[in-house]
Amino acid sequence: MIGIGKRRSRNARAVVTGAGSGIGQAFAVELAARGGQVVVSDIDLRAAQATVNVIQDEGGRAHALKCDVSRLEDVEWMATRANDWFEAVPTLVINNAGVGAGGPLIGDVSMDDWQWTLGINLWGPIHGCHVFAPILREAGYGGIINVSSAASFGAAPRMAAYNVSKAGVLSLSETLSAELSGTGVNVSVLCPTLVKTNIFETGRINRQSVAAGSALMRAIGMSPRKVARITLDAHDRGGLYVMPQLDAKVGWEIKRHAPRTYTRALGLLERFGPLKDDEAAVPTHAHTRG
Ligand SMILES: NC(=O)c1ccc[n+]([C@@H]2O[C@H](COP(=O)([O-])OP(=O)(O)OC[C@H]3O[C@@H](n4cnc5c(N)ncnc54)[C@H](O)[C@@H]3O)[C@@H](O)[C@H]2O)c1
Repeated sequence: MIGIGKRRSRNARAVVTGAGSGIGQAFAVELAARGGQVVVSDIDLRAAQATVNVIQDEGGRAHALKCDVSRLEDVEWMATRANDWFEAVPTLVINNAGVGAGGPLIGDVSMDDWQWTLGINLWGPIHGCHVFAPILREAGYGGIINVSSAASFGAAPRMAAYNVSKAGVLSLSETLSAELSGTGVNVSVLCPTLVKTNIFETGRINRQSVAAGSALMRAIGMSPRKVARITLDAHDRGGLYVMPQLDAKVGWEIKRHAPRTYTRALGLLERFGPLKDDEAAVPTHAHTRG
């Protein structure tokens, strides 16, 4: 039978959201390379189809679907279509779709930006778990990988909506892991720092942060394919927390063991760091739209 046991990422029947770009695309390509059939879903159907073309060019099996993860009815529809295409239930679901948001301080972030960010980054994985967890629990094998971020515990200033959304995904994953323990279904939560993708260009992020973040990402970001490989291997070993980079692991340890010192250090960075200027305070929607 497919996907059973410790090597859930081999020959999987996988559903990946936000798979038209970046980390989601890398998951889809890697899963196909590991012998899987992959439902490549994205809010942007053309991007999803482009990922499918890459997989098929390499001899893999994939199917594109349009799905806006912020809409429960889209995720339910995707689950039905995936079942039809697999002619079986999925064995691996990756709730990856997400957007970047940052710049203004709490109080200056518009309600629209809060709702947009939480709607995709938090409600997306909630919808994915709501729809797929009962299916996998019933099947008694397989896995769910939720894509969170080091922002889930990082609490960096000027990223409130993003931080909150990712902290929610971390808690969702921990809770789901406890609920599914002993069922044969493994849950992992991916918490990377910078990964080389389009997230700065497509999010609601102010210009200065986009410039600084993109430069840093190009300099030190991990490749999406490497993140996908590390995550799938960790998932196969039954890992819950996946922190592919050293800075994420160090940040996690400091935050856990010296949380107040950590927060004070971030406060100093906010007061004296590079984003201390007028530009950073401009509401994000004045600059970019997703
Ligand atoms: N790139 C990083 O440095 C980084 C770091 C930590 C976590 N992450 C997380 O990784 C995930 C993937 O982001 P990425 O960096 O690959 O970005 P990306 O912008 O390259 O890809 C995101 C994909 O999600 C899709 N998408 C956006 N809104 C959607 C929606 N409502 N429904 C379905 N699809 C939607 C986009 O069309 C795009 O194809 C996100 O959850 C992000 O928060 C990224």
